[in-house]
Amino acid sequence: MSGELSPIDKAKYVAARRAADMVEDGMRVGLGTGSTASWLVRCLGDMVQNEGLNITAVPTSIRTANLARDVGIHVVTLNEARWLDLTIDGADEFDREFNLIKGGGGAHLHEKIVANASDQMVVIVDKGKEVETLGAFPLPVEVLAFGLHTTRALIEEALISVDVLGRSASLRMSGDQPFVTDSGNHILDLHLTHIGNVRQLALLLNQIPGVVESGLFIDICDRIVIGYGDGLVEVRDINDGTVEHERFDFLETENLFTDLDA
Ligand code: A5P
Repeated sequence: MSGELSPIDKAKYVAARRAADMVEDGMRVGLGTGSTASWLVRCLGDMVQNEGLNITAVPTSIRTANLARDVGIHVVTLNEARWLDLTIDGADEFDREFNLIKGGGGAHLHEKIVANASDQMVVIVDKGKEVETLGAFPLPVEVLAFGLHTTRALIEEALISVDVLGRSASLRMSGDQPFVTDSGNHILDLHLTHIGNVRQLALLLNQIPGVVESGLFIDICDRIVIGYGDGLVEVRDINDGTVEHERFDFLETENLFTDLDA
């Protein structure tokens, strides 16, 4: 079974497996979206079913909610939970200050709301997501459908005043239709290549009418769990300034997670 996993899937799995160990009995937990977060949900489902773990979870997408219910996790809305102990989620890029780009899966609006409602946010990634400077990954910006083309023009114009290398914004598509988020909005992907000042850009984007939320996560992430293809896991804690290492055995994936969707 373990031989079927690619090195990247192994890296994602071990990061998720390590983060699952941070979840304690009785916790209210935010569940992220994406392929790495899916590994986490499977790990937690296994702990619920086989180790008696008792948690209440708030998913950040319909996709994650469906998976969580499928694996036996008790799911509630954020309105029901109000505040969470811990949110664990993936990311598309991270830098050494724990700034993130998220939203490759189109769920960053709900992910940001849930992470902000949590005492702690833990990010789970494979090592390939680490960058010196954010921006190679197109920055997702959730926008209202109303006035979409005007909003896009305003964003491209505003980008002239900030330290980025590219300024084009493309409308994310799903087949031949614009992609629609769980909140019924659309996504513009900004092709910036290099973001010189993430705070300035985040503030600028949030001031443009029609912008709902950008995929820049700043001062939100507390710990990053980085998985490697050989089973090594590195845990970086920005509050303690610590870095810890651990190694996982891939045999743990046997009888688990054979039909995982990204
Ligand atoms: C979902 O909208 C995103 O924020 C994901 O967390 C991010 O795209 C990471 O996804 P993967 O774990 O699939 O790389």
